[in-house]
Amino acid sequence: MLQLENVDVCYGSFKALTDISMTVDTGELVVLLGANGAGKTTLFNAISGLVKPAGGDIRFEDKHLNGMKPSAVVSSGVVQCAEGRKLFPQMSVQQNLMMGAYVHRRDREGNKKRLNEVLELFPILEDKANQPAGSLSGGQQQMVAIGRAMMSRPRLLMLDEPSLGLAPLVVRQMFETIRQINSLGTTVLLAEQNAFAALKIADRAYVMENGRLVMEGDREAMLGNEEVRKAYIGA
Ligand SMILES: Nc1ncnc2c1ncn2[C@@H]1O[C@H](COP(=O)(O)OP(=O)(O)OP(=O)(O)O)[C@@H](O)[C@H]1O
Ligand SMILES: [Mg+2]
Repeated sequence: MLQLENVDVCYGSFKALTDISMTVDTGELVVLLGANGAGKTTLFNAISGLVKPAGGDIRFEDKHLNGMKPSAVVSSGVVQCAEGRKLFPQMSVQQNLMMGAYVHRRDREGNKKRLNEVLELFPILEDKANQPAGSLSGGQQQMVAIGRAMMSRPRLLMLDEPSLGLAPLVVRQMFETIRQINSLGTTVLLAEQNAFAALKIADRAYVMENGRLVMEGDREAMLGNEEVRKAYIGA
């Protein structure tokens, strides 16, 4: 579904990504592990069209995404849920969710149906629909951010550190919902530092260090890998 070949990204003279080749197959839940500054967000932004690769190729199904505008990338079915949520705090929860439906704004019936599906995933948001998004707890705000991305009807959903700053119990529920989104038919690429929780729901994972992919494997191999355990999971 998604294929990156030898992708490089530079910020001025600093090379943030070097020679990234990876794939995500239809229906998979793939995790991208990496410490602070490894390049996870840069990779997502390159796929989303927010930064322009210096080299290489990014393909989604039959389309080349490199050089596409971010709005065209969303229209083609690739939607990023940004690190740090980036909500509109003064606007209501429902208004935030509907922002994600902008790309389908002519299909009002479809958006209504989709909104109901999103509220089924996150029932608490129905009670909070008219409250300002900024008044919600961190976990609820992350639900709004994922819900807004789901309103764009992604076929590939990219989640950038959704567990950041959340309490352990909330993190567990968040990963359970991500697994559910995937099993309902949305392909997921998930960037995380919370390696154990992410690997538990993953089909496959890549590990990134200093802008390079250094390891790849399926869930069992990664959970059993000594290096991965030492670096990301603990004893
Ligand atoms: N706009 C920018 N200009 C210059 N350097 C940048 C820019 N954005 C990121 N970088 C640098 O690129 C490298 C990769 O950053 P990136 O944000 O992609 O990492 P990350 O894996 O998402 O980290 P985190 O887990 O902290 O979110 C870092 O060294 C960072 O300082
Ligand atoms: Mg990041």
